[in-house]
Amino acid sequence: MKVLVLNGPNLGRLGRRQPEIYGRTTHAELADLCVGWGRDLGLEVEVRQTNHEGVLLDWLNGAADDGSAVVLNAAAWTHYSWAIYDACAQLTAPLVEVHISDPTQRPEEFRHTSVVTPHAVAVVAGKGIDGYREALELVAAR
Ligand code: DQA
Repeated sequence: MKVLVLNGPNLGRLGRRQPEIYGRTTHAELADLCVGWGRDLGLEVEVRQTNHEGVLLDWLNGAADDGSAVVLNAAAWTHYSWAIYDACAQLTAPLVEVHISDPTQRPEEFRHTSVVTPHAVAVVAGKGIDGYREALELVAAR
């Protein structure tokens, strides 16, 4: 089964970005880990990251067309992008929402809502990079 791991804005700077919150693993390392975890689970994983909302929308629309499963960390867009809400609504294969931190436990009020959650079969948050493995396990189990 094909699974797209899609990461939104600022996640390209993982490893350098607020490491006390997001850890020291880089996006390239995360991508390698996800491909390996996917292989162990019998999944064909492709990892992508963008800082451009329209690009993420195109990828989500492509996943809707292909019937690919999606593991999505929409980063800050999670909290306000109704375009991403609409794109997630069109997916037919499982969508798992993932966050490295747990946005619901962070002090900024804006992080406490998610436009992705209504369309997700599961949310994995606050488990660091390992949360991506858990998300892939949840996809594989379906
Ligand atoms: C994040 C949490 C979001 O609130 C934040 O905007 C991010 C990363 C996470 O993985 O913990 O960019 O999605």
